[in-house]
Amino acid sequence: MQWSDHFAVYNPAMPSSNLKPLHGKTALITGGAKRLGRASALALAEAGADVAITFRNSAQDAQATVIDLTSFGVRAVALRCDITEEKSVKSAIKEVKRELGGLDILINNAANYETANFEDITVKQWDAIFASNTRGPFLVSREALPLLRKRKGKIVNMGSLGGLRPWATHAHYCSSKAAVHMLTKVMAKALAPEIAVNCVAPGMIDLGEKAATSFFKKMAKQTPMLRNGTGEEIAAAVLFFVTAPHFITGQILAVDGGIGL
Ligand SMILES: NC(=O)c1ccc[n+]([C@@H]2O[C@H](COP(=O)([O-])OP(=O)(O)OC[C@H]3O[C@@H](n4cnc5c(N)ncnc54)[C@H](OP(=O)(O)O)[C@@H]3O)[C@@H](O)[C@H]2O)c1
Repeated sequence: MQWSDHFAVYNPAMPSSNLKPLHGKTALITGGAKRLGRASALALAEAGADVAITFRNSAQDAQATVIDLTSFGVRAVALRCDITEEKSVKSAIKEVKRELGGLDILINNAANYETANFEDITVKQWDAIFASNTRGPFLVSREALPLLRKRKGKIVNMGSLGGLRPWATHAHYCSSKAAVHMLTKVMAKALAPEIAVNCVAPGMIDLGEKAATSFFKKMAKQTPMLRNGTGEEIAAAVLFFVTAPHFITGQILAVDGGIGL
């Protein structure tokens, strides 16, 4: 493993407060270098958890996120991992155990999104979306299972409003996310009573992309809350499930300002 595949920063100068709800817990967030994954990672670190994030291509963002995570006085590590590759997932989980000593929380966040007309979707595109969005969360969960069982842990899958509502130009994406929603329910039953499994399904989340400004303006008008969501609001929903009673399991929580109603 090269240094560029792995960043770890410990900040012993800043002790974590015992009052923080996730003090003493460890969390793994796939695809946590930027955007929603980073927002969830920061929320969990702020709540006191030691955090491992995975990245695939975004090494620089991962390094910056690790540094930001440690500002909350927690341990943080970034690991390169391709969630579609069994070998890569196995070695990432091994590394999490070595770095953080175990695992209480898994956030299956990494995924891909693509717009394509139904008749233009190739087999390669279809399979690639399912490999990252559906097989990925399955693989990471399966490999993390022994660690999570030991700690009576929690899994949060990132679904999508697109897994609840049919978007005509996203047949592969919507189907892959609907599968994640079902995977959440199956896992909640299969992994009980040790592990609680839930899913956050974001709606229209404006992360400030300039190219999407007019699209987001249009979507805000159609949303009962008259605006799009933020990364922090998705992170708050993730934090809710992570800190919720273990009795809450198998749930899909749409965070969409009401646009899916
Ligand atoms: N943003 C939204 O409005 C929205 C709406 C509905 C649902 N969601 C869901 O919420 C989650 C986060 O959304 P997002 O927009 O922040 O996601 P994103 O930016 O599209 O992707 C998050 C990360 O996933 C990683 N990734 C992709 N393929 C991977 C692979 N094969 N192996 C390992 N990592 C891989 C990428 O890491 P690298 O950059 O390091 O390559 C990427 O940074 C996703 O599950 C998404 O489907 C988002």
